[in-house]
Amino acid sequence: MDMIVRPRRLRKDQTIRRMVRETRVHQSSLIYPMFVMDGNKIEEEIPAMPGQYRYSVDRMAYGLEQLTKAGVSQVMLFGIPEKKDEMGSQAYDPDGIVQRALREAKRRFPDLYYITDVCMCEYTSHGHCGLLHGDRVDNDSTLGQLAKISLSHVEAGADMVAPSDMMDGRVRAIRTFLDEKGYLDTPILSYAVKYASAFYGPFRDAAGSAPSSGDRKGYQMDYHNRREGLKEAALDLQEGADILMVKPALSYLDVLSDVKRETCVPVAAYSVSGEYSMVKAAAKAGFVDEDSIICEMAVSTYRAGADIYLTYFAKELAGFIQEGRIG
Ligand code: PBG
Repeated sequence: MDMIVRPRRLRKDQTIRRMVRETRVHQSSLIYPMFVMDGNKIEEEIPAMPGQYRYSVDRMAYGLEQLTKAGVSQVMLFGIPEKKDEMGSQAYDPDGIVQRALREAKRRFPDLYYITDVCMCEYTSHGHCGLLHGDRVDNDSTLGQLAKISLSHVEAGADMVAPSDMMDGRVRAIRTFLDEKGYLDTPILSYAVKYASAFYGPFRDAAGSAPSSGDRKGYQMDYHNRREGLKEAALDLQEGADILMVKPALSYLDVLSDVKRETCVPVAAYSVSGEYSMVKAAAKAGFVDEDSIICEMAVSTYRAGADIYLTYFAKELAGFIQEGRIG
């Protein structure tokens, strides 16, 4: 055979395959999303997300302990309040669910790194991510609310805030407010490139945050658009974002790859609830091998450019990395 180049040489055995890997993953880049809710003695499985739980503050330690044992030290907190109103006022209440959870979690597990999702949809009676004026989510009057929410999270102990609302100008509003209050060193992880996606379905079930009327297409991005992702990324950088996120992950790897190439900050990808639930359902039906799918989804997201990966499979992935199955 007249063949000089043989790609199979580098696939001959496990050792050489590992040596030539282009993508390396480590558990220090994983973030685990976790739901905390008002109430007592609650540790309930989320029906649409088997294996994921909603915890009340008194039971949250169990979830955090499992995380620590698995070797994951970053958590993203989502709050589910008992009371909702038009203004989402529980979101910035110093005794709101996220604020109480943060204080307790920091006391029990001071070595974990706490990021909070900053948004209004879980806290508003109408379920939209900002203040409603008529049937429209009003951009500019929402900015002050988001800044207030961010400050209250940081005051309660958040190490980083992550606005997910998709209002224009919110990164600047949050940065300016935090700086004014002396929190110069608290980074902002911006959900910069967030699409209006059906993949959030199970999350809205988990957090009770589906909009009671309309949808989120007036503020979240249209999934027909790729270049617009760069516009959103550039804007958030100008406004002071420290880390940019693309969300969802799997159907948006093209966008992720663009954002990685065109910017010089760390890029995060969020493998959202629908991605999780689809894997769980298909595996339960025996159609796919769950562990292999988790690994492949994760590595392909890193390969496309993710530096940081948010996933409900963070604990499982940390295990696979430690076993050397991926990494
Ligand atoms: C809040 C928020 C959502 C998610 C993260 N932050 C829901 C939404 O925008 O509707 C989705 C996360 C997931 O699906 O796992 N705005």
